[in-house]
Amino acid sequence: MAYQLLLTPGDGIGPEVLNDTRRVLGWFQQNRNMAFETEEAAIGGIAYDTLGTPEPDETIAKAKKADAVLFGAVGGPKWDTLPFDKKPERGLLRLRKDLGLFANLRPAICFDALKDASSLKPELVAGLDILIVRELTGGVYFGEPKEITKLPDGQQRAVDTQVYTTHEIERIARVAFELARLRGGRVCSAEKNNVMVSGVLWKQVVTAVGAKEFPDVKLTHMLADAMAMQLVRNPKQFDVIVTDNLFGDILSDEAAQLTGSLGMLPSASLGAKDANGRQLALYEPIHGSAPDIAGQGVANPIACILSFAMCLRYSLGRGDDAALLEKAVDRVLADGYRTPDIMQPGMTKIGTSEMTAQIMKALDKLKQ
Ligand code: IPM
Ligand code: MG
Repeated sequence: MAYQLLLTPGDGIGPEVLNDTRRVLGWFQQNRNMAFETEEAAIGGIAYDTLGTPEPDETIAKAKKADAVLFGAVGGPKWDTLPFDKKPERGLLRLRKDLGLFANLRPAICFDALKDASSLKPELVAGLDILIVRELTGGVYFGEPKEITKLPDGQQRAVDTQVYTTHEIERIARVAFELARLRGGRVCSAEKNNVMVSGVLWKQVVTAVGAKEFPDVKLTHMLADAMAMQLVRNPKQFDVIVTDNLFGDILSDEAAQLTGSLGMLPSASLGAKDANGRQLALYEPIHGSAPDIAGQGVANPIACILSFAMCLRYSLGRGDDAALLEKAVDRVLADGYRTPDIMQPGMTKIGTSEMTAQIMKALDKLKQ
């Protein structure tokens, strides 16, 4: 049976990197006994331009039917002046919410070939391998009320609401603990239980889930601000980090940048398994739409290609193939090939499509 993949290229460099990921997908189809059926749908700014909304119902419906969504990127200066509810980001947020993709996995790994590209000293980041598990459908992103009202004296008042229930915290904690079992066996939970009551509940619930269901996993807690500091002081102390939607947004950008590989990191957003074991999922490079370099053929396709590797691992149960693809990327970097964003002295500068070609060549060599 063919895997149904929905491709949503979106804006900026999204279409370029996703197009190249499609080539890699073709390689797996030809060489690894897999069948994919792909379809494309509009999301974000391009959807607004062509269909009048950044979050077309049709795209959401198709995404719900697909085995997985491969997402490019959304946003760009062209749409900056649109009202809040028409901005390209709405498309991504609605996909997350409507598909129930509550678990966002953001690995922050430092490729050995790139350890000098980090803004931290190479010895602090060499071998770094952190997994951030970010809650993705709750918290201040979606809490109600969320509004700007007028006060009698003419001022305005803006409210966002940070809200979490026991169930929401339990399920994300379980994802983090389960993943920790497959890695270093440690989870650090970040919240602000000194200031926020949602943080008090977060800490309580994560602690209870850990004690009851995962006594073999070592759990620690850290205030989110302290974690921001520890991530630049000594990032290798972390294995799996679990945190809420907003802290996860911030801490994952920080962690990604300190690997020196910001443009290279993938992500997975997963829903709950239904009674038949079916799990909705979306895979996305974390770099965003990079409008400044869009259309020039220079974007780094690696983050998107590695997002497809995560798709192989988490949606298709093909961990071996995921590892093969990750190894191919590693090999190409070790051989000195670089897109402009990660260019270093003495290396070979290449564009998007050549990078993809090199990765496919490496796959050819590795498969034997
Ligand atoms: C991310 C992005 C999104 C977020 C934006 C584009 C809505 O920053 O995926 O981290 O804030 O979640
Ligand atoms: Mg972000």
